Amino acid sequence: MTFVLLKLIHVLAVVLWVGGMAFAHFFLRPAVQPLEPPQRLALMQRVLQRFLAAAGWAVLAVLASGVALLGLARASAAMPLAWSAMAVLGVLMAAIYAHVRFVLFPRLVRAVEASDWPAAGTAMAPLRAWVGTNLGLGALTIAVAILGRG
Ligand code: HEM
Repeated sequence: MTFVLLKLIHVLAVVLWVGGMAFAHFFLRPAVQPLEPPQRLALMQRVLQRFLAAAGWAVLAVLASGVALLGLARASAAMPLAWSAMAVLGVLMAAIYAHVRFVLFPRLVRAVEASDWPAAGTAMAPLRAWVGTNLGLGALTIAVAILGRG
């Protein structure tokens, strides 16, 4: 029962994190492209501010519930290779999230606050690339988790 509840928390947090990245990457960004840089970049900054705060809790929930699931399972059975792969990919995704939130996003905030739109555009490019990368890793991790059940 504890295992199932932990897995529910784990998967709900994955949905928020990976689903949010998919929304930002595939729907929000293309939709704001026609806007002028001041409107577009300020809007992206405000949306990312909210998303990154919520995603931070989701990342903590995914990692904590994942480690707890491993702890519970280790007591009863051998650990499948897919779970080790999920843990490695999960830690890598969390590191990319931390880089986005604590290094790349503050550059965008500073540029938007200074109304320096060329700098804000420059700050947005690596943000987009890393969120895209993490989205791909998220999809891969979900595939590993599901297909690994064999
Ligand atoms: C430290 C990181 C992580 C650890 C230790 C971990 C561990 C686990 C464990 C032990 C399970 C239970 C597997 C089962 O009952 O078959 C699980 C399920 C799952 N995990 Fe993770 N996980 C981590 C990160 C992630 C990430 C980053 C994702 C996706 C982006 C993810 C997606 C899933 C999914 C979709 C399931 C449900 C699989 C199923 O029941 O078919 N996990 N995880």
